[in-house]
Amino acid sequence: MNMNFNDAKAHYRTILGGAQNSDRLDKVLIFPPYPYLLPLHEIAQTEFVQLGSQNVASEASGAYTGEVSSSMIKSLGINYTLIGHSERRAFFGEDAEVLKKKADMALENELTPIFCCGESLDQRNSNQQEEIIGNQLNESLFHLQESQMKQIIIAYEPVWAIGTGETASSQQAEDMHAFIRNLISERYGNGIAESMSILYGGSCNAANAKELFGMENVDGGLIGGASLKADEFLQMIALLDE
Ligand code: PGA
Repeated sequence: MNMNFNDAKAHYRTILGGAQNSDRLDKVLIFPPYPYLLPLHEIAQTEFVQLGSQNVASEASGAYTGEVSSSMIKSLGINYTLIGHSERRAFFGEDAEVLKKKADMALENELTPIFCCGESLDQRNSNQQEEIIGNQLNESLFHLQESQMKQIIIAYEPVWAIGTGETASSQQAEDMHAFIRNLISERYGNGIAESMSILYGGSCNAANAKELFGMENVDGGLIGGASLKADEFLQMIALLDE
């Protein structure tokens, strides 16, 4: 929830302008607030950058004032949505059951969900992180069919690292990503597990991204604060070309 519309448009144009020579723009997704989706999408179409929504309703349609459905997002020509960001879980009471419905609804409408999971600092300090992540995946995603699961993108975002300036070490990220891939492999087989992208999020910036993205099981990043600084975000996009 940053920037008014004019600032967001200018910021977006700066990013597109700075990244236009990148061969990997198809690997960059931007998740603006709902009201900016369509106008930015109209700019984006000429630049081949894809957009997604930051959230989506758990219900299909009807009397849910204030909600935005997957089919509405899809009807704008937008193909991605975040699901279960830790702020949605913490501040808006989104539990595993709601997130399961959101994942189902997104897939039914051919939106690709970026499903966020992560443990709190207390959970990390008591070494419960694997149990927590395992439960989050199990309760909201592992009911999916194989053909659905392989459309999901996972974002591991330790809550203690989001917006705090404290990043997980590259080894902590790698260990958790390997754990997640292994859980997917046990449930869905190695082929699907290897084909899926697992992104790291939480104080990821231009200074630490190269090392994080260099880890075997870290396939990219979900960038918050650093994406609000055009120069820094452009440096991170440039890493994709290396
Ligand atoms: P951050 O945010 O990069 O500012 O930690 C990540 C996120 O909100 O997903």
